[in-house]
Formats: sequence, C-alpha cells, structure tokens
Amino acid sequence: MGESVLATAFARRGGALFCEDVPADAIARSAGTPTFVYSAAVIRDSYRRLSCALTGVKHRVHYAMKANGNRAILSLLRSLGSGVDVVSGGELFRAQRAGFKGHDIIFGGVGKTGQELREALKVGVKLINVESEAELQLLEAVARELGVVAPVGFRINPDVTVENPHAYIATGSKGHKFGIPHDEALALAKSARSLEHIDLIGLDMHVGSQLATLEPYRAGLDRLSDLAASLTVAGAHLRYIDIGGGLPVAYDNGDPEPDLEAFATVVAPAIKKMNAELIVEPGRFFSAASGVLLARVLYRKRSGGKDYVIADAGMTELLRPSHYDAYHLIESAKPNGRDRTVVDVVGPVCESGDFLAQDREMDDVEPGDLLVIHTTGAYGYVMSSNYNARPKAAEVMVDGARFAIVTARESYDDLVRLEQADPEWRDA
Ligand code: LLP
Repeated sequence: MGESVLATAFARRGGALFCEDVPADAIARSAGTPTFVYSAAVIRDSYRRLSCALTGVKHRVHYAMKANGNRAILSLLRSLGSGVDVVSGGELFRAQRAGFKGHDIIFGGVGKTGQELREALKVGVKLINVESEAELQLLEAVARELGVVAPVGFRINPDVTVENPHAYIATGSKGHKFGIPHDEALALAKSARSLEHIDLIGLDMHVGSQLATLEPYRAGLDRLSDLAASLTVAGAHLRYIDIGGGLPVAYDNGDPEPDLEAFATVVAPAIKKMNAELIVEPGRFFSAASGVLLARVLYRKRSGGKDYVIADAGMTELLRPSHYDAYHLIESAKPNGRDRTVVDVVGPVCESGDFLAQDREMDDVEPGDLLVIHTTGAYGYVMSSNYNARPKAAEVMVDGARFAIVTARESYDDLVRLEQADPEWRDA
C-alpha cells in the first residue's frame, strides 16, 4: 500500500517523469533549477503508515525538523497530528511559525545555550532532553529565574553499536559526544532531586540515523528499561520514553523499506513495561522519499579518461554524496533512448569534492536535459550553503495536480543582505 504511493508519486508517464500529477519539466520551467520538489502524498502516506503501526501503544510522533524544516512540510505534518523535535532556538522559532504549540515541541541538542533554554521554557515545551550535568545545572538556574519547573528528559547514551552507512550518523555508542553515559544517569537523577526547578519525567535516546536493523532499538530500550526501573525505585515518575529517530529509507532501487510492524513489535512491549508514553522522532522517514532535486545539465565533458556531466546543482544544494559518500539515484526527467553511460555527475562549485555521483551508470544526458536526483527531501535543502556565493535553491510542494513554490529561490541581494557596506567601528 505504502510502496504504491511512493511508486506513483514520482513515476513516468509517456517517458516523462511526473511529481504526482505534475510533469517535473513543468515545475523546472516555472520555478527554475536547481529546485527541491516535495510530494505531499508521500508525507501523508508515511505518517499514516507509522501511526498505524504504532496504534497499539500510547505514542506521539515528533517529526525531527532538522531533516527538513520547510514550513509547508511542517504545516502538513502538524495537520496530520505530528508534534516536532527541535534542536535550536532557530528551529523552535520556525516550528512556532508553522503553528506548533509548546506541548507539541520537544527540545533536544548537545549544546543548548542559556538563551535557547529560556526560549524553550517560555514557550512551555513538552520536554527538554538534557545531555549533561552542566546543562542540567544551567537549566535549573534559568528555570528558577523564570519561576517555572522545567520538564526534563535525560538523553541517555546507551552505548549500543549500530550498523549504518556512515560513522557520522551513528550517535549512541560510548565515546560519542551525545547524551549522558547510561551508567551515570542514576547518580545524576538522584542528585537532581535537590534541584527544585527540574522535573525528571522522561528518558531519551537516539542511537543513529538510517539504521539498517532494529537491533539498536532493542539494545537501547533494554538499557532504558533497566534505568527506568532503578529511577522509579529512586522515586522518579517517568511519563515519556523518547526513542529518537533513525528509521531508514530506501535510497536505491531494491533497498528494503523499513518493517514498521517489526519496529512496533520491538518497541511497544518495552514501552508498555515502563508504563510510559512512547515518543518517536523520525526525520528522514517522513521527508527523504518525499523529495527530489531537479537540476539542469549545463555541459558534458571528457577529461582524464572520465566522462563528466556538469549540472547546475552540486554540494551546495546536496552535501550528502560528498560528506557521507551517500548514494542518490539520478535519472533524466525524459530519457532520450540512447544507451546508458558511466559518468561522474558534478556541480559547478570550485572543489574536487563537489559531486553528486561518481562512476555512475545512468541515462545518457546532454546539455539542457533535466536531472532528477531522488530521495533528497531529508538533509538536502537544510544542509545547503551559499559557498561560491550561490543563492539557495527554491522549494516546491506538489499536491495532486497542483504545485506551489513554498520557498523562493534566493536572490543575489539575499546573499549580501546582512553585510555592512559601511561598518560602524567600535572602540575596544
Ligand atoms: N532525534 C535526534 C536526537 C537526532 O539527532 C536525529 C538526527 C533525529 C531524531 C532524526 O533522525 P532520522 O530519523 O532523520 O534518522 N545529516 C545526516 C543525518 C544526521 C542525523 C542527525 N540526527 C544525513 O544526511 O544522513
């Protein structure tokens, strides 16, 4: 069922790629390139499938907006019932603009500033996931100053090993910067009892992203269960168990889809045993497959025995290939029928690391053709940069036969908006 929405959201009709019921080419002609395009149907479908799988356990989904904080996506997920997981004051601001209220928001992150904690407390967020003793002390001070009690979750580092495609997206092993070591959490919870403005009501983990198996969830939950039992004996009343994000998506044709039923089977009994509400924070799972990046082929060239396709999008729009060696399927929006070729698809940025694919067998393309770079709805636009003074791409949402530009392409003026032509010098 789910696969069918995914399969039809970006499918060919008469050889040309459509985004739902809109030709990709029509979007590119209207919005220009490079442009990210998101399918509302895919987001609705992924939200529905995960919610369905978790119906047997009291839960709330808090979309990890770091994956894609586009306002249209946030509003859509909010309308479906999702809350949000934010990791900075900026995300908190964006979430509120998209209509999320305090109880819809979880605030996490390894380096929250005093100002960000103040903002979160003022908004009345549902949970602040604390990552260290020093942060807990700061939060106590800020909450005291505001005269409120902070709803706290402990982000635990459960020290589990994960199998995923890149070391940079594993987070829950000993030695990672994230979380409170699981064997130090009980002592910290006991000492926190003297903090009048701290209410420990949750435990949290996030073991990694694009998790290849369910094992890390199982192992991490075992750790959290043990800890929850000790904390309860020590007098804590835990209401929330937050297991983070990490559900994988299929990047290549033939990659397996996550087994949501199996996920629920691992998670639900552990949560019920702890008598708490489950919080899940998927990011990629909702937005990755909803998005494609449309880019134009500028040139073909042959150099050093290699064939290059030079596109008008590169590492500034999509950092994942160069930063994580990530694979993204690339197709021509309208293949010309010639034999497939093996090429490097590169961008215009002055860096050798600026590529979208290397030694890739793909459709033969020529200048002017439209490229479709798949599964780029998560960690695409949000990780883009202005390097080489490149204005950021536009973002488009498609819903059935309609589409809208939901983020305008940046202009050259946007690039210099904050620059002071005539700086005001101050004496030291
Ligand atoms: N919760 C926490 C605390 C997180 O740190 C993350 C992701 C998530 C939830 C959402 O994880 P997801 O469901 O999307 O896997 N830029 C990398 C991914 C970094 C993930 C960071 N944390 C990439 O492009 O693969």
